Amino acid sequence: MAKIGIFYGSTKGNTERVVTEIQKQLGGDAVAALHNVNSATADDMQPYNYLILACPTWEIGQLQEDWESFVDELADVDFAGKKIAYVGLGDADGYPDTFIDAPGIIHERIKDKGVTVVGWWPTEGYNFEASKSVYDGKFLGLVIDEDNQKDLTAGRIEKWVASIKPEFQ
Ligand SMILES: Cc1cc2nc3c(=O)[nH]c(=O)nc-3n(C[C@H](O)[C@H](O)[C@H](O)COP(=O)(O)O)c2cc1C
Repeated sequence: MAKIGIFYGSTKGNTERVVTEIQKQLGGDAVAALHNVNSATADDMQPYNYLILACPTWEIGQLQEDWESFVDELADVDFAGKKIAYVGLGDADGYPDTFIDAPGIIHERIKDKGVTVVGWWPTEGYNFEASKSVYDGKFLGLVIDEDNQKDLTAGRIEKWVASIKPEFQ
C-alpha cells in the first residue's frame, strides 16, 4: 500500500492537476495514492501515517464543495502521530481578503488531534490581504495561484515536494 494518502477536492480541475504532479514527484502511485474526497470516507484516511490535504477556496472563504461535504468525516479519524501537509489553491487578485482560507478551515478541525504539520510555506511573493491559512507569519502549506501566477506553479511544486520528502520517509 502507498504510504502517503493525498486527499483532494477540485471543482474546475486546477487542484487535481496540482496533486497529480505532486504524486508524480513523490514517486507515483506506489508511494502516494490519490483520493478525491467526493468518494472518500474516514476509513480511507485512517491507514496513512502521512497525509496531504488539498483544497481550493471557493464561494468567498469557503471550502470547495466536496470538501464541505467530507469535512465532518475528519471527526472519525484518529490523527494521533500522523504527519499532515496542506495544499491550498486560490486567487489572490480576485479574493485578497479570503485568500487560501480553506486549509486553515480544515486545520482548525484537526489541530488539537495530535497532528504534526509539515511543509510550511513563506507568504512572500503573494499579494493578498488576509488568509485563514497563515499561522505565525507562514502559510500552513503549499499555496498555488493558478489564476494569477500560473508560471510559478511548477517551480513552487518542485520546491515544496523536495521539502516534504524527508518528512514522509
Ligand atoms: C466564485 C468563486 C469564488 C472563489 N472564492 C475564492 C476565495 O474566497 N479565495 C481564494 O483564494 N480563491 C477563491 N476562488 C479561486 C479558486 O480557488 C481558484 O480558481 C482555484 O484554482 C480553483 O481550484 P479547482 O479548479 O481545483 O476547483 C474563487 C473562485 C470562484 C470562481
